[in-house]
Amino acid sequence: MSDQVIIFDTTLRDGEQCPGATMTLEEKLQVADMLDAMGVDVIEAGFPIASNGDFEAVSLIAKRVQNAVVAGLSRAAPGDIDRAGEAVKHAKRPRIHTFISTSPVHMKYKLQKSPEEVLEMVIAQVTRARNLVDDVEWSCEDGTRTEPDFLVRCVEAAIKAGATTINIPDTVGYTVPEEHYELFKMVRERVPDADKAIFSVHCHNDLGMAVANSMAGVKAGARQIECTINGIGERAGNTALEEVVMAMKTREDVLPFECNIDTTMLTRASKLVSAITSFPVQYNKAIVGRNAFAHESGIHQDGMLKHSQTYEIMTPESVGVSKTSLVMGKHSGRNAFKDKLKQLGYQLTDNQMQDAFTRFKDLADRKKEVYDEDIEALVDENIATSQDRMKVLSLLVVAGTMGPQVCTLSLDIEGEHKTVQSVGNGPVDATFNAIHMLVPHEATLELYQVHAVTEGTDAQAEVSVRLGHDGMSVTGRAAHPDTLVASAKAYLTALNKLMARRDRVHAQAAE
Ligand code: KIV
Ligand code: ZN
Repeated sequence: MSDQVIIFDTTLRDGEQCPGATMTLEEKLQVADMLDAMGVDVIEAGFPIASNGDFEAVSLIAKRVQNAVVAGLSRAAPGDIDRAGEAVKHAKRPRIHTFISTSPVHMKYKLQKSPEEVLEMVIAQVTRARNLVDDVEWSCEDGTRTEPDFLVRCVEAAIKAGATTINIPDTVGYTVPEEHYELFKMVRERVPDADKAIFSVHCHNDLGMAVANSMAGVKAGARQIECTINGIGERAGNTALEEVVMAMKTREDVLPFECNIDTTMLTRASKLVSAITSFPVQYNKAIVGRNAFAHESGIHQDGMLKHSQTYEIMTPESVGVSKTSLVMGKHSGRNAFKDKLKQLGYQLTDNQMQDAFTRFKDLADRKKEVYDEDIEALVDENIATSQDRMKVLSLLVVAGTMGPQVCTLSLDIEGEHKTVQSVGNGPVDATFNAIHMLVPHEATLELYQVHAVTEGTDAQAEVSVRLGHDGMSVTGRAAHPDTLVASAKAYLTALNKLMARRDRVHAQAAE
């Protein structure tokens, strides 16, 4: 059996599905390009039947991806499968990924179908998908809570009907490594033609064991791991791509498996997804957290100075972390800036480059020392906001002990400049009230978070704002040396996303 493990990334499907992680079409294309460039084998680009926007995103990704297989998800219904087939048909290597629930609780309450009816549907769905493409993945949703004999029957039927990949998801993040290992071993031993398909793990992280469970499945013979960048996904998320990849690379002695990922692109991918979704990466997150390679305590620092392997099991360079360096000041020119962006792994269009350079100059005017992190924060924000319909033009806030705090805010709202003055209980409240006056809306503020991008009192503040409305939840993020400007921008980014999403839903309803 080959040691090669297929990396199936579902950031654009299972990842995007989680509340607040919605991406625009342009953002999805950027993520797909990044995944393709870093060596992901299969990109699950979306769920084409879910909306016209999803369909369009999957078909555009299918057309532009150069190397990876492009998969579209579908339920067991004929219309779903056909729509997925239509969306991926222009891919160099198209895949339909079709699923149905097989656990007793899902079949009884969700599907309201008997096991025999579900089995019939498995055969019908795989057969239909195979008539459209040669590469068909079949998943038994809630597989880890499925009754073993029924699971074996379903897997056998799916392979017979032509499924080339069999995915057994731990949909609710319930399993533990030993159990997961035994499950894959049992199914592969009991299904007669098991070797005709590639087995796949798809783990959710509800008990914090998604990575361990995925590796256990691979040890038992699975050769595809479904995962997402930064582990984003439903509830507690999915298996984190960067973690499984680095586990295999760092512990080759006990996990003797290989994959095609260029690990030096992991940090860049993490930052791109974090910037686009505005989901911050936890500081102590394995591999890509900002503290993942930081050594604070005296004992650790002493050890590191003597030999890096005392406390480092992998090098920062191997995951694409370059040594933090002082970048440039206000005298740095466009070419030096371009060079720096290239070094940091960005590929910007001419317009994006021009915009980023203007913002860099603006930042360098305010801040003596501009670090790599500062540049990343401003470019990432630029990527996330390039299509925004509302932008901050100017902001003046009077704060201090004398209160009430007063904010004067000018916005560009779809080309029209509008100004308003408001008061509030504190400068942030005054700023958000001003936005409310200029853009009346009913969204509620679910989260407001500030952190410093670098050290020092002149550091940029990075602000995250999450807004919720009508069951939707989106996050906006922005960085600026002035915390209030960053707050206003982050709020507007979230509002822009919410409105774009609402428009998409309305357009779809109208159709
Ligand atoms: O978690 C799950 O079961 C899924 C399937 C659709 C594969 O995401
Ligand atoms: Zn899932």
